[in-house]
Amino acid sequence: MRHYNIAAIPADGIGPEVISAGVAVLTSLQQRMGDLSLHFTHFDWGSDYYKKHGVMMPKDGLATLKGFDAIFFGAVGAPDVPDHVTLWGLRLPICQGFDQYANVRPTRILPGISSPLSNVGPGDLDWVIVRENSEGEYAGNGGRTHRGMPEEVGTEVAIFTRVGVTRIMRYAFKLAQSRPRKQLTVVTKSNAQRFGMVMWDEIAAEVAAEFPDVTWDKMLVDAMTVRMTLKPKSLDTIVATNLHADILSDLAGALAGSIGVAPTANIDPERRFPSMFEPIHGSAFDITGKGIANPVATFWTASEMLRHLGEEDAAQRLMAAVERVTKAGVLTPDVGGTATTEQVTNAVIDAIHSANR
Ligand code: NAI
Ligand code: MG
Repeated sequence: MRHYNIAAIPADGIGPEVISAGVAVLTSLQQRMGDLSLHFTHFDWGSDYYKKHGVMMPKDGLATLKGFDAIFFGAVGAPDVPDHVTLWGLRLPICQGFDQYANVRPTRILPGISSPLSNVGPGDLDWVIVRENSEGEYAGNGGRTHRGMPEEVGTEVAIFTRVGVTRIMRYAFKLAQSRPRKQLTVVTKSNAQRFGMVMWDEIAAEVAAEFPDVTWDKMLVDAMTVRMTLKPKSLDTIVATNLHADILSDLAGALAGSIGVAPTANIDPERRFPSMFEPIHGSAFDITGKGIANPVATFWTASEMLRHLGEEDAAQRLMAAVERVTKAGVLTPDVGGTATTEQVTNAVIDAIHSANR
């Protein structure tokens, strides 16, 4: 029996709805497999915790999480707490504290789900976006002075380090190399931003020399949005800065049908710390409590978590079950269906149990 301890942090909005769906599906998967054991420990951290305690998680939160094999995270964000408080109080401290410097976002059009792009179907769009997750525009370097005065200044300084760029570039080239097309697109804005972005391009060329079998090209981020929309088949693996990839991956999610299907992995490639797995979407308070949140992003996220834990077979079984359900048209409203979160979840559980392996 292979055993893993998973920390579940559902947090805010639809987070608890999709994480409980994810835990239900993972639990049925381990029953079906018989040789896999996942133990979940739930943490009530998030905006409600903040309203009671003045912090999003306890002071020793990271020390508590450190012993887990992985973190299964919902979403943060509440209408009555400022977004920078929720984000910097929980999700970013985990990403930064555990040096989860690679944020990996696969995108595919699942069977039964249609892309808003005409003439683009399953198989035509198969990308993995690698987002630098520890520095860049979200490094937290900046400040405000002379608040409220006419001369008030606010700075938000993007930080790019040779160590940071080199390690994400190596991760992206390695990932591209492991995929059938062995193709990487490096995204920057090195025409307008002359320092950090030019360094990205230089380091990309240096690292490329270590991967002679990977074909690579460069794109400016604005032109990249056009290429993703008009020539989706021309892309495979993509690497970009924290901000650029944040935006591009929302676009990718939309082009694949809905951000309700898009997964994310926050990876510490050196495995010194637990990695964190979450759907791309936020807490979606417009649909919270309605029972219609799409749980597919969380299921796909769970599959990525299993893959990271070395459970490739379990990861594939889970995605196969999800794809059987989407193909059969059991879909939530965001992807054009009428099913509830619970109906999709039960259909995936049935598919797991009825699969012939
Ligand atoms: P959002 O991702 O929560 O929602 C955007 C739109 O997509 C909404 O119309 C929502 O109903 C829909 N949507 C999202 N997930 C869905 C799902 N699983 N099924 C069906 N529809 C879904 O982004 P928004 O509205 O910009 O932000 C809401 C809150 O979430 C904010 O407080 C924001 O800061 C936070 N947020 C947190 C993230 C995280 O925890 N990683 C990521 C993005 C936003
Ligand atoms: Mg985002």
